[in-house]
Amino acid sequence: MSELRDRLTLSEIVGRRVRLTRAGREFKGCCPFHKEKTPSFTVNDDKQFYHCFGCGAHGDAVEFVMQQDNLSFIEAVEMLAAQAGMEVPQQTPQEVAQARKEKSLHSLMDDAANFFTHVLYETKEGSGPLAYVRERGMSAEALTAFRIGYSPADGQALRRYLKEKGYTDEQMVEAGVIRRSTRGGEPYSFFRERLMFPVSDKRGRVVAFGGRVLPGNAAEDAPKYINSSDSPLFHKGRMLYAESHARAAAADGQPIIVVEGYMDVMACWQAGFRGAVAPLGTALTEDQILVLWKLCNVPVLCFDGDNAGRRAAARACERILPLLKPDYTARFAFLPEGQDPDSLLRGQGRGALQAFLDSALPMADFIWSRHTAGQVFESPEARAGLSKGLEDEAARIADRGVQHYYRQSFREKIFAAFRWKGAKAGKRKKDERKDRVGDVMRLRRPAFTDLSLSRQVLLVTVINYPEIFELVEEEFGSLDIENKRLDLVRQSILDIMGSGNALDRDGIVNYLNGNGFGEELSLLMSEGVYTHAGFARPGRSVGEAQAGWFETWQLLYARAVRAELKAAGRALANDPSLENEEKWRALHNVHKASGDGN
Ligand code: UTP
Ligand code: MN
Repeated sequence: MSELRDRLTLSEIVGRRVRLTRAGREFKGCCPFHKEKTPSFTVNDDKQFYHCFGCGAHGDAVEFVMQQDNLSFIEAVEMLAAQAGMEVPQQTPQEVAQARKEKSLHSLMDDAANFFTHVLYETKEGSGPLAYVRERGMSAEALTAFRIGYSPADGQALRRYLKEKGYTDEQMVEAGVIRRSTRGGEPYSFFRERLMFPVSDKRGRVVAFGGRVLPGNAAEDAPKYINSSDSPLFHKGRMLYAESHARAAAADGQPIIVVEGYMDVMACWQAGFRGAVAPLGTALTEDQILVLWKLCNVPVLCFDGDNAGRRAAARACERILPLLKPDYTARFAFLPEGQDPDSLLRGQGRGALQAFLDSALPMADFIWSRHTAGQVFESPEARAGLSKGLEDEAARIADRGVQHYYRQSFREKIFAAFRWKGAKAGKRKKDERKDRVGDVMRLRRPAFTDLSLSRQVLLVTVINYPEIFELVEEEFGSLDIENKRLDLVRQSILDIMGSGNALDRDGIVNYLNGNGFGEELSLLMSEGVYTHAGFARPGRSVGEAQAGWFETWQLLYARAVRAELKAAGRALANDPSLENEEKWRALHNVHKASGDGN
C-alpha cells in the first residue's frame, strides 16, 4: 500500500478531473465536490492530501477516486494500482483500512507540529518560550531541524485548527493530541503551555510529542516533561528520539551517541554530533538496543557520573549483555557528576564531550569495574566470589562465541589483577628500583603520617600520567591514605590499571567519574594541588612526572621510615631482644638508603 502511495502523484490524479495551477508548494483549482467560481480547492503532493477550504472536502488519492468515480475502496485501489502499472497490492481490507488510518494520523501529527511552530514563532504567546530556548543556546538551525514549537494555553486552539483541516475528534484523540474531558466538557489539548518536541519515526514522520514545562508558566507540581501515550503510530519503547537524523549521520560515518534527553540530543546535534539519539523518557529497552545496532555496531551510551547515572548505566549494561553478538556491542561514557551533554557542551565545548566519548569504557571493562570498584579481594573466598560473579555475567550472553571470549577476558583480568606482584617487578630494571626502595620496607606498608597534600600529588600524577603506573605500581599499592574517599580512588585506579587495562588519562578520568569520584577528581585536579607540584600538571613530560612522583614518594617514605626507626629505637631500648635489634638494624639501613639526612 505504501509503495502504491509512493508511486502516485496526487496532483496528476486530481489533475485528470480538475484544472490545477501551481501555488507555491501546492496546487489550486475549483473544487469538484461543490460549485464554486473562485478556487478554494488545494492539492498537496508532499502530504498526499487534497483539501477544500470551501466545503471542507478532504482526503487522499484513494478517497478522491472513490468519490469521483463512485467506487468502493478496493476498486479505487485496484484502479490506481493499474494506472501506476502495479500489481494490485495483496492486502486484506483490514490492512488497507489500517494503512489509510495511519496515513491520516501521520498527516494529522504533521499538521499539529506545524501548528506548534506557528505558535512559537508567530504569536505573542510564543515570544517568551522562543526567548527561553534561544537563551539556552539553541540555534535557529537546530530549532528548525527539530521542529521545536509551543503549545498555547488555550486548550481548544489546536482542536479548532485541526478541525478546520478536516480531522475529526476521534482522530485527534487516537493520535493523542486531545483528551476527552472526564467532566463532560469539550475535548481539550493534552499539551498546554509546553515547549513542544515532535518525535519522528525512522522515516522522519511525526508520530508523537514531548512537551517541556517552561520556568514560571505552569503548575509547580507538573512533571517537567509529558510525552504522548502510545498510539497506532507511536510505541515509545521501540523508538528513539532523533532516529531519522541519526540514521543520516551514521551513513556519513558519525558515531551514534545515546543521551538521556531531548535537550541533550539537540545540543549534540548543534555541536556537530549528529548521531545523537535518546530513549523516550524510559530506560533503554531491548527493542531500542536492536534499533541502535541497525544504525551502527558500537553505539556509545552517555551517562551522568552521579549515582542515578551509574545505576542507569548498570541497567543498560544488563539489558545489552544477553543480546551481544559478534561485532555488535556498546561502550559506556561517564560525564562528570551533575553534567549532561547539553550542560557539558555549553560549559566546556565540543572537545570536552569528544574526550569523554573517546574514552568510553568497552562493555567488558565496564562489567569488570562494576564487580571490582572500591573493593579489596584479599581472601581466596573473595577472589572466588569475584570470579563466580563474572562467570555468571558471561553466562547471560546468548551468543556462544561472544560468551566464550567474555569468559576468557574476565579470566585474564582476574589473573592480571592477582598475579604475584613480584613477578611483574622482576620484569623491570631491578637495580634501578633498589636504589629507590629498601627491600625490607617493600614488604610492609609504611605507616605514613598524614601528609595529605603529598598523597594528593601522587594520586593526581598517576591520573594525569597513566604511563608511569607500571613503574610506580607497588609503591602506589602500598600507599596509606587516611581520607577514605581518596583511598578508594587509589584502589579504583589499582583495580582498573592492575587488571591489564591500558587506559589513558581520559580513560581513567572517565572511569573514576563513572564510579562516583567526580568530587574527588575536582579536588585532585586543581590549582591547589598543582601549585605544589608542577610535574603533576597535564601537558608536562612523562619523564618529569615520573621523576616528580618518586621524589614525592621518597619524601613521604623517608618520613615514615624515620618515624618507624624512632619507634624501633624506643622498643629496642625497652626490650633489647635480638628480634628488636634486627628490626632496628633493618630500618636503620633503609633509613640510610632512603637518603633522609635528618
Ligand atoms: P532531564 O530532566 O535530564 O531533562 O530528563 P533534560 O532533557 O536534560 O531537559 P532540561 O535540560 O532540563 O531542559 C531527561 C529526559 O527524561 C525524560 C525526557 O525525555 C527528558 O528529556 N523525562 C524527564 C520525562 O519524560 N519526564 C520528566 O518529567 C522528566
Ligand atoms: Mn538537561
